[in-house]
Amino acid sequence: MVAIKKTLEPIQQSPTPLKVQGPKHLHIIEKTYHNNAESDYTEKLAELGKTFNYADNSNYYWVIPELSLLYGTPLYDAASTQQKLALNHLYWVGNYNHTAVSEATTSIYNKVTNGVFRAVGGYEKLCDELDFETEQESYHIRTFQRIGYKTKMAIVGKTILGNTLYGKSEKENQSWQQLLIPQPVRDFFNSSEGSSPFAVYRDKTLSAIAKTMLRDKKQYYSQYLQDLEAKGEQIPAPSDGLGGRIAERYWLQFFTIHWGMSPFMACQYYSLRYTANAILKNQEYPYVRYYRELEQKGEYIPAPTAVSYYHLLDEAFHTTISQTLAKEMYKDFPKPTAYEKFISGLMIYKMQCSLLSGLSGVLPGRCVYDDEMLMVFYYKLLKSPLFGMDTKEALEWMEKCFCQEHEGYHIGLKYHQSLLELMRRLFSNLDYQWKINREMGIMAAGGSISKALQKNSQAFRQFAQSIAAQDS
Ligand SMILES: [Fe+2]
Ligand SMILES: [Fe+2]
Repeated sequence: MVAIKKTLEPIQQSPTPLKVQGPKHLHIIEKTYHNNAESDYTEKLAELGKTFNYADNSNYYWVIPELSLLYGTPLYDAASTQQKLALNHLYWVGNYNHTAVSEATTSIYNKVTNGVFRAVGGYEKLCDELDFETEQESYHIRTFQRIGYKTKMAIVGKTILGNTLYGKSEKENQSWQQLLIPQPVRDFFNSSEGSSPFAVYRDKTLSAIAKTMLRDKKQYYSQYLQDLEAKGEQIPAPSDGLGGRIAERYWLQFFTIHWGMSPFMACQYYSLRYTANAILKNQEYPYVRYYRELEQKGEYIPAPTAVSYYHLLDEAFHTTISQTLAKEMYKDFPKPTAYEKFISGLMIYKMQCSLLSGLSGVLPGRCVYDDEMLMVFYYKLLKSPLFGMDTKEALEWMEKCFCQEHEGYHIGLKYHQSLLELMRRLFSNLDYQWKINREMGIMAAGGSISKALQKNSQAFRQFAQSIAAQDS
């Protein structure tokens, strides 16, 4: 069994700090911590990861077929049973690979905001819960990586499904700059080692703006960030996963200072964390339903299906915490200033634009348009031993999958609508938010198959051109 430190103390009434107005959300937090620490889902999940063997699970669907790569496309219809199973398994791998990276980010922000709540005082149970969640995430991440690696190796071997095209375009960019921009100006903006002078000025300026605007809250500045600064380390910001997609790194570092200094902003961060919880739940819940169906019928339950099941049970506690802080606990603190409202609005607006503004035709549940990076992934998959296509064949199939209307787009829209509902359930309550964020306006506008076909076809044309240029 996995030993997860349980530092649970008997439930007792939390001391009421001066700033706390109502105990209801504190009661929810205490109860959630108690139930989370008492449960054994993390241990079960970790055990499944350790004993996972792909061969024992390879002949079973891990979830309903519609949660498979390429589901509903003409290529899926033409695929063999074995390929369909592999696409169902690779969907799990892709989804949880992304989740692992996002949860690593969550662990950092648990520490950033925890520092603020400890400085405020009176939120000890919440701080314990956040520490406990961070520990749970480390087991989740390791389990996802173990199963993901073994599965990927069994299906496509050493084929790298990442992206190499972007390296090439960066080099092209540089040669273009060399022709037009004088060397001293280029040196100011670019650096081959570490940050350029421009980046250093920009980061210092943004940090100074944040600290000046929040100067009346400096007594709450997170100990975690203070320790990093004392060691001369950078303010943390994700470069990958859901968090890394929201904005450029310097914007995220700028936002991190806010979450690590203002009690209101520390709670506001949890509306963003709720977004990650909702995206995950939208795709993970079908695994739970599938698990229960198999259990009822007394059929074999593939280990990854069981991992998803136990993960959702763990994450349900985390989601409750996100909701409670985002929807209720922020009211414990003074009302947000105009500046804090502006920054909160900007963050959620950027998040909508980068994570929720479109529709995929080939990856059910992904609410962004299909970009070149995703196309590189599919291109390599079609050329891998799983499909064994040549360049011409791969591009012809990809055109049918990305640029023609098929069932996959309709399945994508179904998941888009259910996520929109989950998002509105929280954001419609946040009176300090911009109207477009309360209504999830950007996301709602992205739920259109005709728009997706137009955008995805445009991206595919560019992708096909870059492949042709590479081959010539
Ligand atoms: Fe997790
Ligand atoms: Fe979590």
